[in-house]
Amino acid sequence: MARHQFLHLRLFLLSPPKPLLLNPLPSLTSSCNPTSSNPISRNRISTLTTRRGSHSTVASLAKEILSSSANDLSPDLASLLESDKARSILRLSTNGSPFLRLLSLLKRRPLLALQVFDWRRNLRDSPPLIAEEYASAIALAGRAQNLSLAVKLFNESKSTAKGPILYNALMTAFMYNGEVKRAISLFHKLKKEKKYGPDTVSYNILLSLYGYHVLVDQMESVLRDMDSSGIPRSVVTYKMLMYGYLRSRRWKQMERIFDSLKEPDTSTRLLMLRGYTIAGKLKKMERMYELVKGEVHAQERSLICAMICAYSKVGGDSSVRKIEELVKLVREEEYFPYLHIVLIKVYAKEGLLDEMERLIFDANKRNIVISSQHVMRTILALYFKSGDVERLDSFIKQAERAGWSLCKDLYRCKMILYSRLGRLTDMSCEVDKMDSYWPVRDRYTLKILYKGFSNSGRMWEMNMVIGLMFKYGFQFPQGAVVY
Ligand SMILES: *[C@@H]1O[C@H](CO)[C@@H](O)[C@H](O)[C@H]1NC(C)=O
Ligand SMILES: *[C@@H]1O[C@H](CO)[C@@H](O)[C@H](O)[C@H]1NC(C)=O
Repeated sequence: MARHQFLHLRLFLLSPPKPLLLNPLPSLTSSCNPTSSNPISRNRISTLTTRRGSHSTVASLAKEILSSSANDLSPDLASLLESDKARSILRLSTNGSPFLRLLSLLKRRPLLALQVFDWRRNLRDSPPLIAEEYASAIALAGRAQNLSLAVKLFNESKSTAKGPILYNALMTAFMYNGEVKRAISLFHKLKKEKKYGPDTVSYNILLSLYGYHVLVDQMESVLRDMDSSGIPRSVVTYKMLMYGYLRSRRWKQMERIFDSLKEPDTSTRLLMLRGYTIAGKLKKMERMYELVKGEVHAQERSLICAMICAYSKVGGDSSVRKIEELVKLVREEEYFPYLHIVLIKVYAKEGLLDEMERLIFDANKRNIVISSQHVMRTILALYFKSGDVERLDSFIKQAERAGWSLCKDLYRCKMILYSRLGRLTDMSCEVDKMDSYWPVRDRYTLKILYKGFSNSGRMWEMNMVIGLMFKYGFQFPQGAVVY
């Protein structure tokens, strides 16, 4: 559950908020993703002074570890770690950085990485673990969803290592696993530490946490606390604030933060672009897109769909043209049902019947299921406007076969169109068809039937319908006369 929630947080940044999450495969390393505020990786980078030689040794060892153990408990791993190569990693430097690099290369397999950490911890005559190494392990335990291990490592680390980095790691682990209260209470514990207190990263974690939970007041109070404690803001601080405002749909505040940045970095611009897409501020969106086009295409591709959705909400000729330009950029493997349905809706709303039908046909081929009645009604509205009952008929048949969401209005519309053409038998057949889906007849359908007959003066059938209405206990249509 907790992990799911966190995943949702990641997805949120990469997709429009409603009604579905757009991209099921976001790049998890996205830089406007709060996880990139991960204190571990940031600190690791700053403390890394690795030499080139150790770099390649570490990389090749990581590769061997990853390929040797198909499962995390392989005996291969033990023998691999006995090798000189592995041991040499620890001898290469005293500041722990080669080992940190090794852990970071293994972090996609946290259980495996934790085993390697265990090996290092239990190795006799190896240098004592430093704070950064513990912090890495705590973060890995968080990723592996083993919070009791994370807490254990945190407790253990306090005997040899110190600093906010350990707290930050555990806070992140809590946050990653949805343990909001524990993360916050750990922050307060950190504030009570005598020799050191929270640093920029600690505050950033708290900001992202409140931002994610749309607790703007708390977020702002954390910021005030940060400023009054003299803790400098970082790029991530601003990003987290913007993210919090984005979550709470406070576009003005989000924009104000953005405008206050002298030289916003690319990921901040991408985040602002995301904000503009959700807010539907097309002009600003377009200007921002011009600035970061390359990055959008290369790394934040989900923004392409977000922009399509933004245009689709506004509609109009120029939106359709821009949507068509953007759709060309979407790769086949990025294509997904929701986008297809958005496009169908756009064409339906713009009255472009041929284009809409082409997409409907395509949806069928791709086995896309339209399960939203709202979408079905939007499509239907266009058929109704066009008055082409044959095309409507074949659409309904297609929808029936494909198992799309059917609604009575589909058949009622067809009845009305038939009655306009004087095809009263066809009209009556639709009622039978509806009976097979909805066993209980309703007044509205019978009223359409009545109107159809009365408009062409078919008294006998008209009276039959009125009889039916009697039978079901419905009111008569207004102006109905019983003969
Ligand atoms: C967490 O890690 C500890 C130590 O490695 C292990 O004993 C425990 O079974 C793990 N718990 C879970 C839920 O995986
Ligand atoms: C960690 O230490 C705290 C107190 O310092 C203690 O309450 C807690 O039980 C310890 N947790 C583990 C898993 O050792």
